[in-house]
Amino acid sequence: MIERAKQAVAEAGLKDRDIELRVADMENSELPNNFADVVTSNCVINLCPDKEKIYEEAFRILRPGGRLAISDIVSTENIDSQLKERFQSTWAGCLGGAILEEDYVHMVTRVGFDELQIVARHTLTPNELAAMACCPGDTFTPPPSAEDRLLVESKVASIKFTAVNKKKT
Ligand SMILES: C[S@@+](CC[C@H](N)C(=O)[O-])C[C@H]1O[C@@H](n2cnc3c(N)ncnc32)[C@H](O)[C@@H]1O
Repeated sequence: MIERAKQAVAEAGLKDRDIELRVADMENSELPNNFADVVTSNCVINLCPDKEKIYEEAFRILRPGGRLAISDIVSTENIDSQLKERFQSTWAGCLGGAILEEDYVHMVTRVGFDELQIVARHTLTPNELAAMACCPGDTFTPPPSAEDRLLVESKVASIKFTAVNKKKT
């Protein structure tokens, strides 16, 4: 994983920068309090069962005034619990782990973040839903039935948001 990340750093032309790569769970980064200026993540938190723990950890490691910049998958309408269970067993969490957007936003503000701003929202197209169903490959995650996929069309979105940690110390 570190080798792949080094390659990405090099491809981005950042090889000469002071960049340290570490492997850790987002729920427990093992970084000190008030350490980071920014916490950013793309399409990971929706996979994690305890999202609140991740945001508590992000709040802890961000310095006062530090920022969140997150992209994640949410549902924009309630998804039937049996359907969700089927997704959880076949979609490797990409959809099975997605929670309702309004619950997500409440969770982020509940742990202490301020000034949450949704800067982009994109409802997944049927093709995007199908592709996500097989991420990282249909050998690992067999696609859901066409009927199940139809039931969530227009109810799943990718959102990008920012928020600020305004803690005092
Ligand atoms: C859909 S990929 C996104 C990868 C990358 N962020 C990108 O944009 O290409 C999801 C990644 O989340 C990682 N992941 C899942 N749960 C995690 C957790 N609790 N802590 C850290 N990483 C996790 C997986 O190992 C996988 O690499």
